[in-house]
Amino acid sequence: MDRSNDLELDAFYRVIAPYYDEDYAGLLQGADIAFYRRLAEACGGPVLEMGCGTGRVLLPLARAGIAMHGMETSLAMLEQLRASLDREPASVRDRVALTRGDIRSTDAGCRFALVIAPGNVLHSFLERHEQRAWLANARRHLAAGGALVFDVFQPDYRRLLASPDDWVQDVDRVDSRTGRRVRRLARCVHEVEFQRFRVEMRWVIEDAAGQTVAQESASVMQRWFTRGELENLLELEGFRITDYWGSFAEEPFGKGSPAQIVRAVLGGGT
Ligand SMILES: C[S@@+](CC[C@H](N)C(=O)[O-])C[C@H]1O[C@@H](n2cnc3c(N)ncnc32)[C@H](O)[C@@H]1O
Repeated sequence: MDRSNDLELDAFYRVIAPYYDEDYAGLLQGADIAFYRRLAEACGGPVLEMGCGTGRVLLPLARAGIAMHGMETSLAMLEQLRASLDREPASVRDRVALTRGDIRSTDAGCRFALVIAPGNVLHSFLERHEQRAWLANARRHLAAGGALVFDVFQPDYRRLLASPDDWVQDVDRVDSRTGRRVRRLARCVHEVEFQRFRVEMRWVIEDAAGQTVAQESASVMQRWFTRGELENLLELEGFRITDYWGSFAEEPFGKGSPAQIVRAVLGGGT
């Protein structure tokens, strides 16, 4: 099997890990966290997060009283999560279990009322066999009556075809640990025929005098999805879709929706 994309993903997350929490606190504003928290509280847990990264979603849910199990392959992302966990009270730490492993194949050893994959995790799986392997593994982790919920973004087709590939500064913040200014520039280079795009990111770190003291860059290939193919993939892997939202405010998916957020249960369930 070709593991080159896995190696590239690992290298990408090694660079992005120390920036991740503070960059995405500004970019995502926590709207998805409130959504996943509502779902977790409604089912009561336990919850498996596949691709839990630094714990951006996992930690607030654990703080809300939900028993959380995180599965993650990137050691760099897990190290950030473990460092954050160390700063939590024992009551929160005791609610969190972590497994380092591949969400397409690793067994967490138990079944869950809710399996979630927030933050565009599926975009990392470029090939159909990988997408199916992930869904099959998610299915194996569901308790009777449990649900899988995940999100991917909705591509803006006009932008894809125009394919501007321009660099955009999407982060400009002061790092809470170093006090230094962190600017992130990003661009996507599209391969429309393959539903793929290469994400390129650059971080520029400046001292108080505005001098650049460090620069880092990383890039990775990602895949985007249409509603039709997600419906087919889920059906192939024995799921039945119960909800298809277009935003984390739980608006139905439709024209202009920024996201595709899917809730699915084992075929025949409710
Ligand atoms: C965009 S981050 C999202 C992290 C977290 N869910 C969030 O919402 O902040 C995607 C995460 O999925 C992880 N990931 C990608 N492929 C994976 C795989 N095959 N097995 C386990 N984790 C994987 C990455 O290492 C990364 O931490």
